[in-house]
Amino acid sequence: MKILVTGGTGFIGSHTVVELQQSGYEVVIVDNLYNSTRDVVDAIEQITGIRPGFEEFDLVDEKKTADFFGRHNDIAGIIHFAAFKTVPESVRKPLKYYRNNLISLLNVLDCMKEFNIPYFVFSSSCTVYGQPEKLPVSEASPVQRPWSPYGNTKLISEEILEDMVKAHPLKVISLRYFNPIGAHDSALIGELPVGIPDNLVPYITQTAIGKREALNVYGDDYNTPDGTAIRDYLHVMDLAAAHVVALDRMISGKSKSNYEVFNLGTGKGCSVLEVIRSFEKVSGVKLNYRIVERRPGDVEQVWADTSLANRELGWKAGRDLDDMMRTAWNWEKALANK
Ligand code: WQD
Repeated sequence: MKILVTGGTGFIGSHTVVELQQSGYEVVIVDNLYNSTRDVVDAIEQITGIRPGFEEFDLVDEKKTADFFGRHNDIAGIIHFAAFKTVPESVRKPLKYYRNNLISLLNVLDCMKEFNIPYFVFSSSCTVYGQPEKLPVSEASPVQRPWSPYGNTKLISEEILEDMVKAHPLKVISLRYFNPIGAHDSALIGELPVGIPDNLVPYITQTAIGKREALNVYGDDYNTPDGTAIRDYLHVMDLAAAHVVALDRMISGKSKSNYEVFNLGTGKGCSVLEVIRSFEKVSGVKLNYRIVERRPGDVEQVWADTSLANRELGWKAGRDLDDMMRTAWNWEKALANK
C-alpha cells in the first residue's frame, strides 16, 4: 500500500518514513525543504535499503498539489506532518503560520475528497491543552486557546478535520505529541533545526559539541521540585512507531469513530535540570548552562495521561530519557563529522 507522508524529510516525518517502510508500506514523500534537506531521502534509503518516492513542492500551491495527486492515484492513506512549527517565530509572524499550516492542510484534504483517499493521520500537539488545570492531561481534558499561533493552527486543523469526517467518508486520527526528542539509532537521521535552536535538546547537544557557548535555562522559580519547568519527553522512534499503529488501526477497521485523538507521551514528566543531568551522564560531558529569566509563553508543567493510546492503540513509549539523550548526542556528533 502506498502512503503519502507530507513533511517526510523533517524530524518526525523522516523517522516515520523509516518505520512505515520497515512495516511493509510503500512511501512517497512531499516536502518543500523549507526546514529540511534532500539528503534525508538518501539517509532513509541507507537505513532501510528502500528509496522512498520524493517530490519537492509547496502544498500551499493548490495546482501543484492537485497535479501530484493526479499522478499518484494509488495513495491509500496520508500522514500529514507538513507545517511550520517554531513557537516563537509563529508569535512574530502569525499570518505566515496561519497561511502555511492551514492552506496546505485544506489543499491536501480537497484532494483526499476528490481521489477518495480514506485514511488520514494528523500531526497535532499537546500545545492544544495550554497549561492544563489537572495533570496528567488526558484526551478528555479541555483544549484551551493555545498560547501561540503555531499551537492555534494545530487546534484549528483538528476542528477542520472533525468537520470534514462529518461530511465525507474518511477516517482521521489526530496524534497529540508531547516533546519528541532523540534520533534514530543509526545516527543517520535526527533533529536538524535551522539556525539557533528554540528547543531544549538540540540546544543542549549543540552547546556540548561547542557550537553554542552555553545553554540558557529559562527559569528555576517554577512551582516544581527543582524549580525548572517540566515536560513529557518521548523518543522520536517511539513516536514514529505510533503513526504506523494509528494507520494500521484505521486500515484494519478498528477505529471506534471516524475522528479519534490520542496523546503520545511517556506519561512521565521530566524537568529541564533532569534532562541536563541525563545528558551529562550518558555523554560524560559537563554541560555549560546558566539560569536566566523564564521564557514568555512557556507553560510550567505538562505531561500526558497515555492510557487511551496504551489501551486502544496497544502503543506504549518504551525508551527512557537516557536513551533519548544518548541518541541525540550520537546524532550531534555525527553531524559534526559530516
Ligand atoms: C522545553 C523546556 C523551556 C530551550 C515544544 C515544541 C512545540 C510542541 C511541544 C510539537 C521548556 C526549556 C528550552 C532552551 C530552556 N511540540 N528550554 N532552554 O516549549 O515544550 O514546546 O514541544 O508540537 O512545538 O516547541 O519545548 O524544547 O522549546 O522547551 O530552558 O534553550 O525547556 O523553557 O521548559 P516546548 P522546548
